[in-house]
Amino acid sequence: MRNGIQGTDNVVIDNKVALDNVVFDIRGNGNMIHLSENVILNDTSIRIYGNGNKIYLKENMAVESNIMILMEGNENYLEIGKKTTLLAVNFVLADGSRIILGDDCMCSYDVHFRTSDQHSIIDGGGGGRINWEKDIIIKDHVWFCANTRIQKGVTIAHETVVGLGAIVTKPILEPNVVVAGNPAKIVKKNINWLRERIQKMGEVIHTV
Ligand SMILES: CC(C)(COP(=O)(O)OP(=O)(O)OC[C@H]1O[C@@H](n2cnc3c(N)ncnc32)[C@H](O)[C@@H]1OP(=O)(O)O)[C@@H](O)C(=O)NCCC(=O)NCCS
Repeated sequence: MRNGIQGTDNVVIDNKVALDNVVFDIRGNGNMIHLSENVILNDTSIRIYGNGNKIYLKENMAVESNIMILMEGNENYLEIGKKTTLLAVNFVLADGSRIILGDDCMCSYDVHFRTSDQHSIIDGGGGGRINWEKDIIIKDHVWFCANTRIQKGVTIAHETVVGLGAIVTKPILEPNVVVAGNPAKIVKKNINWLRERIQKMGEVIHTV
């Protein structure tokens, strides 16, 4: 489903993707949405209010259901890596910021990425705004458990698990760790994770 695209030079590049209940609300000029081969989008809302914004969804990336992308202002960039899967995830970007989510990441439900606070905090000494937007960079194979929040300026190294309910406010630069809590801290080191669930008797269950 496509609707609500207003302005000039707004482009949706669609390489044989599967779209089900996808709503576009684009108001501005020169925005681009690039949907690569075998992307699957279910129950997706893409709202862009500004110019020169770009969304690049790489091959085999899948939205199981219910994601919302909101871009306000100009020149924002969202990239979601190959084979990354999303379930009820929000992305909010404003004023030329970026979210880059690596390959084969897994986001559970109620996960929020936010580069911008969307409103201003002003320095009481007359120094102007202090809460500027900052990029979010997530490396490959990071698992976001349910109810996690990723704040502006966060980088997360590859092979990380972000535990249920975590609020990540600072970069996690060490790979192969579990982080948890508010604000999130490293609680385990030297780990890897799999999408498959290994049972105690050794059987491997392929989860969705
Ligand atoms: C992150 C997680 C996967 C780690 O599991 P684990 O490796 O078995 O972790 P443990 O239970 O051994 O906990 C390790 C430590 O972290 C703490 N911890 C674990 N998860 C935490 C959380 N979500 N918030 C705060 N602290 C947490 C534990 O209290 C423990 O602290 P301690 O070392 O002081 O005792 C798990 O805790 C979790 O959050 N699961 C939710 C999975 C989910 O959302 N699934 C939905 C489908 S994707």
